[in-house]
Amino acid sequence: MKRHVVITGGGGEIGFAMAREFAAAGAAVTLLDKVLPSELNPEVEAIGATFRQVDVTDADSVNAVVGGLDEIDVAVANAGVHRGARFLDLSPEAWRLMFDVNAGGVFLFCQAVARRMVRRARGGNIVVTGSWVQDVPHVDNTAYCASKAAAAMVARCMALELAEHGIRVNVVAPGIVNAGMAARQLKIDPVFAATATQGIPLGRLQTAEQVARATAFLCSDEAESITGMTMLVDGGLSLFKR
Ligand SMILES: NC(=O)c1ccc[n+]([C@@H]2O[C@H](COP(=O)([O-])OP(=O)(O)OC[C@H]3O[C@@H](n4cnc5c(N)ncnc54)[C@H](O)[C@@H]3O)[C@@H](O)[C@H]2O)c1
Repeated sequence: MKRHVVITGGGGEIGFAMAREFAAAGAAVTLLDKVLPSELNPEVEAIGATFRQVDVTDADSVNAVVGGLDEIDVAVANAGVHRGARFLDLSPEAWRLMFDVNAGGVFLFCQAVARRMVRRARGGNIVVTGSWVQDVPHVDNTAYCASKAAAAMVARCMALELAEHGIRVNVVAPGIVNAGMAARQLKIDPVFAATATQGIPLGRLQTAEQVARATAFLCSDEAESITGMTMLVDGGLSLFKR
């Protein structure tokens, strides 16, 4: 039987790279997102994946969609949003948005998935997409850092409580990935573009595929004793070489 992998934020660049990685290994993939960019339609078809619309901030939407899926072996809580702002300028709306999606969305999706996995009693794997900034303060990023820190702690608490059900929960924490939200920022922010690689000891931005491979590893039998861990895929960025 094919493993069934469900990925939120699957219409985004990192989420879709994860979908490709799992599909290439023979999994059936369901992509969940608020929107699927139309240019992805042929690619979704090419990897044999299916798409369902969901808003991870809406419990009814999450429960209805997750409840209607086939049995889930692997779930990746990957949907995320980023709004940069100086602490002094950060609006309550931006704070709420980032917490609603990046932390609340992880809670709602993972709870719906975990309830199904526990009922089925065959274990499973959950990965939360965190960020290197979940443990490192970063200027202009108070709400993003704090929401990712919250998501990582949700994952660790889940790992603790769900281990007795054979469910492993880990965090994949990308650095600056030349894809998705960071790629969009690189295009419009010349200072960021000029300096992005400077603090990365390995000297390169990450790729979505590198994040996807780490995610697949965390969900593989090779990682059978790993739970409650954050796997950084950041080229050493959080080591702060200056
Ligand atoms: N790109 C990077 O450098 C980087 C670095 C660290 C962490 N991350 C994290 O990786 C994940 C994927 O980001 P990405 O770079 O592919 O960005 P992206 O914008 O391409 O993808 C994010 C996806 O999340 C979806 N989404 C947002 N709000 C949603 C909601 N309420 N319900 C359902 N889906 C929703 C968006 O529609 C989008 O498709 C995010 O959690 C992000 O925080 C990205």
